[in-house]
Amino acid sequence: MGYEPKLGKKFIQFDFRSFGLGLIVGCLLVSTTYISLFRTDMDLVALWKSSQRASPTATETLTGLSRLGKQHGNVTREGETATKNFLSTRNKSEGRRQPICDLSQYRTDICDIQGDIRIVWNGSSPVTLVNPPGTSRTSESWEIKLYARKADRRVIRRVPKVKVKSLHGDQVEESPHCSVTHAVPGVVFATTGYVGNIFHDFSDVLIPLFQTTRQFKGQVQFLIANNKPWWIRKYHHVLNELSAYNFINLENDDRVHCFEHAIVGLQADKDLMIDTAKSPEGLSMVDFVQLLRSAYSLKRARPWPAGKEPGRRPRLLFISRGRSRRFMNLDEIVPVAEEVGFEVVSAEPKFMDVAKFAETVNSVDVMVGVHGAGLTNMVFLPTDAILIQVVPLAKLDWIAEHYYAMPALGMKLRHLQYNITTEESTLIQQYPRDHAVFTDPDSIRKEGWQKMAKIYLVEQNVRLDKDRFRGVLKEAIELLN
Ligand SMILES: *[C@@H]1O[C@H](CO)[C@@H](O)[C@H](O)[C@H]1NC(C)=O
Ligand SMILES: *[C@@H]1O[C@H](CO)[C@@H](O)[C@H](O)[C@H]1NC(C)=O
Ligand SMILES: *[C@@H]1O[C@H](CO)[C@@H](O)[C@H](O)[C@H]1NC(C)=O
Ligand SMILES: *[C@@H]1O[C@H](CO)[C@@H](O)[C@H](O)[C@H]1NC(C)=O
Repeated sequence: MGYEPKLGKKFIQFDFRSFGLGLIVGCLLVSTTYISLFRTDMDLVALWKSSQRASPTATETLTGLSRLGKQHGNVTREGETATKNFLSTRNKSEGRRQPICDLSQYRTDICDIQGDIRIVWNGSSPVTLVNPPGTSRTSESWEIKLYARKADRRVIRRVPKVKVKSLHGDQVEESPHCSVTHAVPGVVFATTGYVGNIFHDFSDVLIPLFQTTRQFKGQVQFLIANNKPWWIRKYHHVLNELSAYNFINLENDDRVHCFEHAIVGLQADKDLMIDTAKSPEGLSMVDFVQLLRSAYSLKRARPWPAGKEPGRRPRLLFISRGRSRRFMNLDEIVPVAEEVGFEVVSAEPKFMDVAKFAETVNSVDVMVGVHGAGLTNMVFLPTDAILIQVVPLAKLDWIAEHYYAMPALGMKLRHLQYNITTEESTLIQQYPRDHAVFTDPDSIRKEGWQKMAKIYLVEQNVRLDKDRFRGVLKEAIELLN
C-alpha cells in the first residue's frame, strides 16, 4: 500500500475533536515541579539492507551493550569515554561501518538510520534494525529516551523510550510487513518531560526538531511517540512549517511504517541555542527565528529605526507574569518608560494563543521581563531588538546567563541585565533583613531546590526602583538610536 502525503491537510485539521481535551497543563512556575504524565514505550522495527555492514562478534556486542547500558542516562565523563571507546573499537574491527546510535552527547541520544526500516508500536518496546539473512549472526539494540534533557534524572525516568534494534539473519523473517511505505524520511520524537513550560517547549523540543529536520525542507514525516494533542495544536504553526505531512501518532497506530531513512531522537546542543559548528547545514538560531517569522507571519525583521517613522516612538513591552515574580509597581514604572521616550505595551501570554503573543512581541523594540520562562518569547523579537532581563534575588547569575542572556546574543538580540537590590524584592515584607534569605542564599540553596524555588521563584515579586530602572531604560533607548 502506497502512502499518499496529505499536503495542505495539516496538524490543525488532524484529530480536531480531541484537541480540547488535553488542556490540563496550567503554567506551573518552576520546571522541576513539573511531573510528566505519560510514560510510554514502543517498538520500532527496521530492516537493515546495507551489504557493507559487517556484524560484530558476539563478545563485542555484549561488551558494547553493557557499556552502553551503564552509560545510558549517565553523563559522567567516564560514561562518555566508555561510549567513545566502544565506538572506536567497532570502527577498528569493522572498517567502514558507522555506529547507528550516538549515546555520547550530553543532552540527547539520537540514531540516524539508513536502510530498510520498520517502525511499529508494540506496547512495550522499540525500533529494530534487521540484518539481511545470512550476513549477520548477532543483533544489537539501543534504548533511546526521547527527550533532549537526558542529564535530568528526575524527568528522564518518565519519558517515552524507544528500542532501536538490529535483528540477526533468522529474525528478519519475523519482522512485520509494511502497512505504509513512506517516500520521505521519518523522525521519531516525543512531546514530553517539561513541555507545557514555554522555555522547555522551545529548548527541549521545537529547536531540536528544527535542528534535526530543517535539512529535509518539509519533506519529512513526523512520528510522535506520545499523544499530547494540545501541544501539537499549540505549536501547529511551527510544526507545519517543518513538515508538509500529517504527523503520525504512534501511540494509537497499529500500522507498520516503513522508511529508508529515519532519525530517532532529536539533535540538541544547549538551551535555546544551536551550535552552528556542529550543524551540517550551518544552522543557527537566526535561521530558527526566521522560520518562526514565516510560521507566524511576523512582519518586523528589524527594530525601530530612529527617524524613519516620524511620530512613532520605540515600543517597549513589559511581560507580565500571572502569579510569581510579578512586577508590583508597573503603574509607577510605565510613566518613567514613557518619559524616557517609549510607547509602552503590557501583555501577558495566553497559554494556547502563541500566534497572538508572537505578534505583540514582534511589534516591540524592547522586551522587559523578570527572569523566567516568559522571556523565551524573545524568539519573536526583531533582530537587534533589546531584551532587558530583570534578575530577582537568589544568585541566579548562572541560569540568567545561560538560559536567556547567551541565547539572546545567539539570536542577534541585545541583552541588558538588571539585578534587583534587596529593597526591590517583595521578600523584604516576609523575612527580616538579617534572614539567610538575604544574607546567605547559598544556605537556602543547600536546603534543596524545592525550598529555594519556593522562596525565590514562587514567593518573590519585584518592586522596581524608579530611579535605578530609569538608568537601564535610558541605556536601551540609546542603543536603539
Ligand atoms: C554513572 O557513572 C558512574 C561512574 O562510572 C557510576 O558510578 C554511577 O553508578 C553511574 N550512574 C548510573 C545512574 O548509572
Ligand atoms: C571511524 O573511522 C573514521 C575514519 O577512519 C573516523 O573519521 C571516525 O572518527 C571514526 N569514528 C569513531 C567513533 O572513532
Ligand atoms: C512486540 O512485543 C511482543 C511482546 O512483548 C514481542 O514478543 C514481539 O517480539 C514484539 N515485536 C517486535 C516486532 O519487536
Ligand atoms: C548582576 O550580578 C552579577 C553577579 O552578581 C554580575 O556579574 C553582573 O555584572 C551584574 N549585572 C549588572 C548589570 O549589574
